Amino acid sequence: MLFKQQAWLRQKLLVLGSLAVGSLLYLVARVGSLDRLQPICPIEGRLGGARSQAEFPLRALQFKRGLLHEFRKGNASKDQVHLHDLVQQLPKAIIIGVRKGGTRALLEMLNLHPAVVKASQEIHFFDNDENYGKGIEWYRKKMPFSYPQQITIEKSPAYFITEEVPERIYKMNSSIKLLIIVREPTTRAISDYTQVLEGKERKNKTYYKFEKLAIDPNTCEVNTKYKAVRTSIYTKHLERWLKYFPIEQFHVVDGDRLITEPLPELQLVEKFLNLPPRISQYNLYFNATRGFYCLRFNIIFNKCLAGSKGRIHPEVDPSVITKLRKFFHPFNQKFYQITGRTLNWP
Ligand code: A3P
Repeated sequence: MLFKQQAWLRQKLLVLGSLAVGSLLYLVARVGSLDRLQPICPIEGRLGGARSQAEFPLRALQFKRGLLHEFRKGNASKDQVHLHDLVQQLPKAIIIGVRKGGTRALLEMLNLHPAVVKASQEIHFFDNDENYGKGIEWYRKKMPFSYPQQITIEKSPAYFITEEVPERIYKMNSSIKLLIIVREPTTRAISDYTQVLEGKERKNKTYYKFEKLAIDPNTCEVNTKYKAVRTSIYTKHLERWLKYFPIEQFHVVDGDRLITEPLPELQLVEKFLNLPPRISQYNLYFNATRGFYCLRFNIIFNKCLAGSKGRIHPEVDPSVITKLRKFFHPFNQKFYQITGRTLNWP
């Protein structure tokens, strides 16, 4: 009897064991294949190049998640770089601004695309004289490793407002694509202020209230000397860029919509960059704790932006908000007219 029970138990354990191993094998296979599904699909059209289409995309995300990381850390040998045909390419597109417009979110979300490789750090090549003096090879070496069919994108929001930058970028590549992400100007100015305020508080320093900085106490008018206000006069900055680049080379991203509804904004960017549509709703999920969309690369790897993105803004006197909105209104109208994108800001 005891022997019979033991045999029955052994048999049961064997069945359970095989089931567990089977499930594990299935999961491993599924993770592997999912990695190759959704965003990691064949790159079509203009990005095709000489390499066979089936070959390239399967390696793209593996490269992005694993190898790329090693290359960035400097752990890869020259042979590996050579073996994988990797290159450091000058950017084909740059997110030139605007500070606090959602530049990091835009870069990270575009990096979901298998044909896009982001430069993680802000490089500040064109706006910083010392960096610019180091030459274009220095800049190229700051770029991530990528396959020749991929495109590199960097973001340095200071480019948008820095006088010398348009001419310098033009000298590097006169046909480069330029992305500008904007938010409703008053909200952007408050976001800008909030970032500076946080920096002061971290150093235990006191700082003025937003109202005091944004409104000139002598005239009671909007203080156009305040940088956060000036940066939000988008049209003034854009006009400087238009001395070098035609408007067709710019694409305006609605930063407010990127927060609430990122996918359609990203699809417009894919189109502008002539990329096949590869970013899908699967790649973006709303995280209620963060209050923002986060990024999903596959069933294992996902991430939200750092806590420094999405700060709580201080309360601002409503009359100051009204004054600022009135002030920005004509500039906004001009911006819509020039860019052909109406954003219905108040
Ligand atoms: P706030 O901190 O004012 O909310 P930038 O990267 O250019 O500094 O822009 C920061 C802004 O990106 C944040 O401003 C936040 O609102 C916005 N943003 C857009 N999408 C986001 C996302 N998915 N996660 C976090 N912040 C996001």
